[in-house]
Amino acid sequence: MSPSPTPTTAAHPAAPGSPYGTLPPASPLPQRRPVSLPRLAQMRASGEKITMLTAYDATLAAVADAAGVECLLVGDSLGMVCQGLPSTVGVTLETMRHHTESVARGLHRVQGTAWLIADLPFGSYHESPEQALRSATVLMQAGAHMVKLEGGGWTAPTVRFLVERGIPVCAHLGLTPQTVHALGGYRVQGRGEAAADTLRRHALELQDAGAAMMVLEMVPAALSATLTQALAQCATIGIGAGRGTAGQVLVMYDMLGVNLGKNPRFVRNFMQDAGSVRGAIEAYVRAVKDGSFPDDALHAW
Ligand code: KIV
Repeated sequence: MSPSPTPTTAAHPAAPGSPYGTLPPASPLPQRRPVSLPRLAQMRASGEKITMLTAYDATLAAVADAAGVECLLVGDSLGMVCQGLPSTVGVTLETMRHHTESVARGLHRVQGTAWLIADLPFGSYHESPEQALRSATVLMQAGAHMVKLEGGGWTAPTVRFLVERGIPVCAHLGLTPQTVHALGGYRVQGRGEAAADTLRRHALELQDAGAAMMVLEMVPAALSATLTQALAQCATIGIGAGRGTAGQVLVMYDMLGVNLGKNPRFVRNFMQDAGSVRGAIEAYVRAVKDGSFPDDALHAW
């Protein structure tokens, strides 16, 4: 018999003001209010930069939460970082469920408040909106607050379908690693007028469909800054997209310098001057908030 999902063990911070039941919490209430969609929208509106890092396991998720990161992304980059795969294409929904549950449990253990986003992996949403709903349900029941999916154009109806059914969605445009083979490699996207126009059109369609957040990966800084201005209802989160976005995301291993090769241009190693992993993540949060990271001259195109 295949193991059934264990939603009750994947508990994560409840939304504030639950209307059902009066059982007291098993442990003290969190000191900070859980990050929510309204809070993220308010940060976007007020110009406070949103911080996001990837997290794949309970302990680092708890440390990142304690360091003040608002959003944790269980990215399918875990296929390359944790599983040693050559790309994200081989990551399965079951693997994403497993890591999402681990991260949610880590947050729960420390009364964490981070907003938890999980990637829908390659092939888990491509067939139909109904397939996407089934896949998103697995990740939401594992503890995610929001799912992320890659691509523009054809994904807009799927985003609308999920949002109408109460599942917050983060879109992902620019370099979309699940389509690396079609793109011909990991390259900057949206260069040139025609490509920029397409990206702009897709971004507006995704906002119209209800995407509350949008990762912009390896997009020229000037384009992502104008997109950010154009998207009043959707918070852009950049990675290699310059400082003009509403927030920033990095792969945690990369910003901690846990790797053997050369980091991509858009990464800064925050561990170099920090005495601890928590210190490095706190430095990342400070640098994103005060606008010193990223530096467009060093980390963008
Ligand atoms: O999978 C991932 O970690 C991502 C980020 C790099 C944005 O999509």
